[in-house]
Formats: sequence, structure tokens, C-alpha cells
Amino acid sequence: MEKIFLDILRPDDWHVHLREGEMLSSVLPFTYENFGSALIMPNLDTPITNISLADNYYNEICKQIPKGAEFTPNMTLYLTNYLSKDEIRKVSTHKYIKAIKMYPKGATTNSDSGISDFKNFYHLFEVMEESGVILSIHGEVTDEKVDVFERESVFIEKVLTKIIKQFPNLKIVLEHITSADAVKFINEQSMVAATITIHHLMVNRNIMLSKGIRPDFYCAPILKTEYDRRALVQAAISGNRKFFLGTDSAPHVEGKKIASCGCAGIFSSPLAIPLLIQLFEKHSSLKKIEPFVSKNGRAFYGLRQHKDRVRYVKRPKSIKVIKDIKTSDGKITVFNPYGEIYWEKEN
Ligand code: DOR
Ligand code: ZN
Repeated sequence: MEKIFLDILRPDDWHVHLREGEMLSSVLPFTYENFGSALIMPNLDTPITNISLADNYYNEICKQIPKGAEFTPNMTLYLTNYLSKDEIRKVSTHKYIKAIKMYPKGATTNSDSGISDFKNFYHLFEVMEESGVILSIHGEVTDEKVDVFERESVFIEKVLTKIIKQFPNLKIVLEHITSADAVKFINEQSMVAATITIHHLMVNRNIMLSKGIRPDFYCAPILKTEYDRRALVQAAISGNRKFFLGTDSAPHVEGKKIASCGCAGIFSSPLAIPLLIQLFEKHSSLKKIEPFVSKNGRAFYGLRQHKDRVRYVKRPKSIKVIKDIKTSDGKITVFNPYGEIYWEKEN
């Protein structure tokens, strides 16, 4: 039988949570084996709020990357009141700190140090705009009066448009967009790009809630409607430079996911690329996967394109794939809504 394969420039993950300690050691291999680089989020129990903490975290990660792995970790700083203008200027020329992440207070895991009033940060946005530092945004309001399904669109309308108006040259990544409204908004901007996760491309809120509750699909921002999911798929397969992959892979052990108050987060690194290939194949868009996973993010972040390619092969029968990983605190479920996977990386 003829062998079906796909060669693509090495993919990058522009949004991942690697955690620290034992969890880091358990999940990191799935990132360095599948991606050429990753942008690592700063929401640890002690948030990464300055360059020195980022350097320590970077070193902790690098120690665990085997020699010969073709992988570059890129870091982020957590935006707080403690960040100085000087520190931002240093970030602008820093070797591996590539963005400053803004969390609205209370929006997600470890966001207690996040922001309540965005206007208090305008003096820092000004320096970021001047020095070309990218602002990465978790785009949701956290006002309890706003319905959880509306938090992204209200954020875009009430917060993001104001920031953009005030700082038209600030480079922004609106992270893990979830809605048709967000896709439309991004298409209308010149300096704003967006990451899209695999889970928002593949599942919707009905799948999460209509036939029993599926805590493994619970994430922030929460899954939206099928209409929204389709708009995200169209954005991803369009090849448009403003959209690129950020898995938002966010591991939590089973005991924390399946609980009376479960954590938001989906662990998707292990099967991320095979799942995406299947999605793009389903939409007859395999030619558009390379811009989405390998090129657009690098272009936005101003990095040289990868040169080497990786090969994925389609097997005639579904492959036995990893279901979960074990840690001493319990297992972590691997995201796989398709069940059957046919593509795998050729070693
Ligand atoms: O679902 C999520 N989990 N969304 C986020 O923004 C954070 C993440 C986490 O760190 O658990
Ligand atoms: Zn995230």
C-alpha cells in the first residue's frame, strides 16, 4: 500500500503551561518531543514576575531537556505592579523572554496576582509599545455580573479596544480565542494576533455539558457554541498570518479536575499535532497546517523560520495512543476527543 505522509516545518507551541517540580518533569517531554519551541506561561504558584525568576525557571526547564533535542523554551513574565519600566526595556533585548502576560485577577489558575484595573498599567504598555515587547493577554473580564460565556466578548469590547486605541502600535497576542466574535475582531486589527487551542477547535460546550458533565473538557475561557468552533476552524485553516497554534496545554491531576470545584485546564501536548493533522485533513486543508503550526507564530514574534522538517505518517489502522500519564499525585488525562488517531510522527 502507498505510504501517506506529511512533511512540515517543525511546529511551535505559542502557549503552554509546564508547571514546576515533578509535574514539569512529567509533562515536559511531550513538549520538547513534539515542538521546536514553546512559549511557557508564568502562572506558577509563585508567579514569574521578573527577569530573575524567569531565568531560574528557564534553567530548571533547560536542565531537563536532553542534549540533541531540537527545542527552545521561550519565557514570559507575569504582569503585576512590581514590573518596572526598566525591566520591560531589558525584556525587549532578552534572549528568551518573549512576552509579558496579562491575567485578569481571578480569571484562571494562579491568577490571584492578576490585574483588576487595566488603566493602572498604561505607563507600562507605553514602554512595551516603544520597545516592541509583546503583550500576551488572557482576554476575559472577571466581573461576576458578566455571564461566563460572555466574558471574552465583553473583554474585547470594554477593555481590549481601549488598550488598542491608546496604544495602536503595541503588539498584542489575544490568547486562546474561543468565539466567532473574537475571530472577526482579530481580522479587523493590524497589530493584534491570536492563538487558538486544539480543544477550542475540536469540542464545544454541548459536548462538555449535554450528555453528562465532562470535566476533562473544562477550561478557561470556557468552550463556546458549535457556531463559534466552526469560526475558529475557518480561521485556523485560512492560513491567515494572524492566527497560530497555542495549545494552552494545562495539566491538572485527576483529583483536581474531578472534584466538587474542579480546575480549568486541558492537557493536550502529547497528541496535539496528530489531532490537528486529522482536523485539517477532514477539512481538506492539509496544505494550510504549516502556516498555522510552524510559520505564523514565528513571523509575529519576529523569529527566524525553522529550516528542518518533521514527517508525520498516516497508518492504515488507528494507532494505540497514550491515554494518561501518571504522577505521584495522580494521573493526568490526555486530550483526545477523536478516540481514533491515524497519524504519528516518523522517527
Ligand atoms: O484552562 C486553563 N487552564 N486556562 C488558563 O488560562 C490557565 C490554565 C491553567 O494554568 O490551568
Ligand atoms: Zn493558558
